[in-house]
Amino acid sequence: MSESLPTKESREIETPKEYMRNLGLNPHQLFGQEVLDVGAGRGVFIRFAKEQGAKEAIGIDNGTLPDAEDMARIAETGTVIVNADAASMPFPDNSFDLVVSHAAIPNIASDTFVPRDPDTEWDFEKEDREMQDRRIVALREMIRVTKVGGEIRCAPIISATGELAPHQGKKIAEAIQALDTKNIEIDFAPMNAEHWRLVIRKIA
Ligand SMILES: C[S@@+](CC[C@H](N)C(=O)[O-])C[C@H]1O[C@@H](n2cnc3c(N)ncnc32)[C@H](O)[C@@H]1O
Repeated sequence: MSESLPTKESREIETPKEYMRNLGLNPHQLFGQEVLDVGAGRGVFIRFAKEQGAKEAIGIDNGTLPDAEDMARIAETGTVIVNADAASMPFPDNSFDLVVSHAAIPNIASDTFVPRDPDTEWDFEKEDREMQDRRIVALREMIRVTKVGGEIRCAPIISATGELAPHQGKKIAEAIQALDTKNIEIDFAPMNAEHWRLVIRKIA
């Protein structure tokens, strides 16, 4: 049986529809907004946001950057992807109305991150110890660049009952404990049986 090569569409990690559903957003919430996507991958969401009337849509990613065809589509929609680390974002304080991070914050990697050896068993606890500091710094950065009155949305986060990585939700809960909560409101709640969504509102 011949194996077919993946098409461009099948390589797309998520469609805008899945992104919006997981983040709990409606298209009208993007209109007129300055939007940042942290771990933007190939720019699926920022292009969609701009098409929905976002005033500005910027993505940052330190790894999987868009290919030439994506870049052409990104340029067409007037969006931008910056090659930068979520733990040190090149934006002033209070820059964005809406900051999203889809399938990225739980596994935030450093620039020197070495992918695990596929032949050895995945040691979640070890990997998590190495990642936890970066998660906390990245969340603080996301809060810093969000405007007062703005919102941060991170999803999907695998819950304790999720099969793939049940440690994830626990680690995000611990990371939340490390945040200074005087200027934020936090809502970390299930969106379905397996996944949780983190929403942070910057109130001061
Ligand atoms: C699973 S992909 C999700 C991509 C996209 N958000 C989506 O849902 O289609 C995770 C993305 O996070 C990016 N990423 C991981 N660590 C990062 C970091 N420290 N700073 C910026 N981006 C990071 C990876 O390069 C990758 O593109």
